[in-house]
Amino acid sequence: MISAATVDDRFTRLQEPEALLAEMGEPLDPSGYDWSGALPGALQVEEIFQLTYAAQVEWGTEGTFASLDISRDSVVRRFLRLWLDQEVVHADLLARLVHGCGASVTPIHRERKHRWAAARGKVLNQLARLGVGDDFFAVHMSWGAVNELTTLRFYSVMRANTESPLLRTLLRDVMAQEALHYSFYRNVAIRRLSGNPRGQRIVRWALEHLWSPVGMGLRTPDDVDRLMRGLFADRPDQVVQMDSQINRIPGLENLDLIHRTLEPVTAADARTWSDARSPARRRRNAAREESRRDWR
Ligand SMILES: [Fe+2]
Ligand SMILES: [Fe+2]
Repeated sequence: MISAATVDDRFTRLQEPEALLAEMGEPLDPSGYDWSGALPGALQVEEIFQLTYAAQVEWGTEGTFASLDISRDSVVRRFLRLWLDQEVVHADLLARLVHGCGASVTPIHRERKHRWAAARGKVLNQLARLGVGDDFFAVHMSWGAVNELTTLRFYSVMRANTESPLLRTLLRDVMAQEALHYSFYRNVAIRRLSGNPRGQRIVRWALEHLWSPVGMGLRTPDDVDRLMRGLFADRPDQVVQMDSQINRIPGLENLDLIHRTLEPVTAADARTWSDARSPARRRRNAAREESRRDWR
């Protein structure tokens, strides 16, 4: 358990959100890269799958923005607009590389069912905002921090694995912006949650029961499963590092969100993401874990 004094120390060390906003800079410039490396054969099949997923999720920020642009905080509103602009350019850069390698990628969030989902999401967010009050924004900022952190780690593992110099360069610059997005969300989340036990309970509940990896809904559960297994199944170090950062947000101590989310998916008998997330499957996994513990 983290003491109130520790939380206060952490709070007083935080930068002002305006200062973080000022560091974000402009969207990346596609003309600043040498695209001659975007050639058929430059990427592995699995990399094309991962980059297609990533580009569609980055473009999908338009839908996320539309459903969450309900803050009255002017700094957060400015951040969200800049964040949207930067994410869309990330999508354009990754898609350009995928196209150059001979595959096609299109923005699926503009399909009718996803536009409908974004409109429904906005209504649900407004209802949640009415239901829980300003602590809704603590959920938004904490959720955003988790999504930015996991995205940053997706790219970091991809960058470490790829043999494409162009992809390494693109991901270096994209990751620098993802790190700033993460810092902003995390900073505002900590500000909203420090000394706020009600907000902490709500955020913990929301992440524990509602969070799933970014892209779920836009892409199928099988695709989410394939992405998560492909990137993290043999990288427990990354999972531990993500959880140690998330666990340090007030109220999320010992949550181990990423481990808990991934563990059933990487278990031998979890066939799909939806299996892993089903209550019955989770109960069976918990029982299996319990019986394993008995034998240790
Ligand atoms: Fe991005
Ligand atoms: Fe981002």
